[in-house]
Amino acid sequence: MLHRNSIRKYGRDNIARTATGCGSPSTKGKACRGRSLPVMLMLAVWLALVGAMGWAIADEKGTKPPRPDDRTLELGRLVYEQNCAICHGTLGGGRGMPSMMLRIKPRDFRSGNFKFRSTPTGSLPTDADLFETVSRGLRGTGMIGQEFLPEGERWAVVAYLKTFSERFEREKPQAPVPIPKPPPRTPELIARGRELYQMAECFKCHGAEGRGDGPSATDLKDDWGYPIQATDLTRPPKRGSAPESIYRTMVTGLAGTPMPSYEGALSDEEFWTLSFYVASLNTGVLSARQRREEAAGQHVLRMHGGRGPGMMRRMPMMR
Ligand code: HEC
Ligand code: HEC
Repeated sequence: MLHRNSIRKYGRDNIARTATGCGSPSTKGKACRGRSLPVMLMLAVWLALVGAMGWAIADEKGTKPPRPDDRTLELGRLVYEQNCAICHGTLGGGRGMPSMMLRIKPRDFRSGNFKFRSTPTGSLPTDADLFETVSRGLRGTGMIGQEFLPEGERWAVVAYLKTFSERFEREKPQAPVPIPKPPPRTPELIARGRELYQMAECFKCHGAEGRGDGPSATDLKDDWGYPIQATDLTRPPKRGSAPESIYRTMVTGLAGTPMPSYEGALSDEEFWTLSFYVASLNTGVLSARQRREEAAGQHVLRMHGGRGPGMMRRMPMMR
């Protein structure tokens, strides 16, 4: 409610100021207010025309972009600036001030590369994928779930963060990779999973016992240039511990990281076998490092989030 009110206020003030110069001290007063109505009307008609033309052109080419209305984007911008910009940067560059405290750096949204998708490798994520990440957060990282935000605000912030990458204007996300029904979990399935884990060479990065210490796991870098570790599979994974989540990670890969997609390389049954095996390695206990990352995220939320004092939100070096 608070956000919506402030939008209305922001919108009105802004249009009045830019259209008539009423904000300047010399034009304050009645005469100024009288002039603003026709100017605003003309502005509204012009905006509507330009909007309709853009839409018609987009339609003709058959590449209709998702069209969140201006109010949604404006709400998204407010939610973003109050809750996300501190880490992800006002311009989405991922260089917020707390990134110094975080070993796993906040995402740079400009490339349009997202790790946690339901869509095939190379595709953009769906809105639902982004909504899920924002709501649930990523375990063991500074990305804390934002379920305290009303749902409408979470959808709005998703629409807004897509504006940082022009890929979302040019491309559409592909259809999510279907995940079939799981087989029953049996001891034989887990034993077979252990073999598959070796055969599919997961051990090369994740280590023979899944501790993230495989022979190829040294000096790995992500596409944003930061060092990255192969996940210690005895700890809760970022996307959550359910076998379905592990299935999704294997079949889609994690864009921007060395974690490849195995789509087409393994059968549905093999995916499930591996997923159950990997899930069985998970002790459910966060490592000290994961706890530190989450604590840093919680601290930022308390100090600078929408409900905190928020004093460091708009510093130019945090973009
Ligand atoms: C305390 C810092 C912090 C705050 C605040 C924060 N994030 Fe993040 N966010 C991160 C980090 C760190 C990652 C990277 C995790 C990784 O790469 O594993 C991330 C990743 C993401 C991703 C990318 C997931 C992917 O699939 O690659 C999205 C989307 C995202 N954040 C959205 C948001 C939104 C929206 C908000 C505000 C409502 C927000 N974040 C607030 C730290 C933060
Ligand atoms: C070339 C190295 C490499 C290989 C091979 C590899 N992975 Fe990964 N994997 C990674 C890296 C690096 C990450 C960490 C990504 C991150 O945290 O952003 C990862 C992450 C994961 C995650 C955690 C996702 C989450 O939610 O945090 C799972 C589960 C996983 N891999 C399973 C597997 C399985 C199963 C195999 C074999 C079929 C495999 N990986 C093969 C490098 C690899």
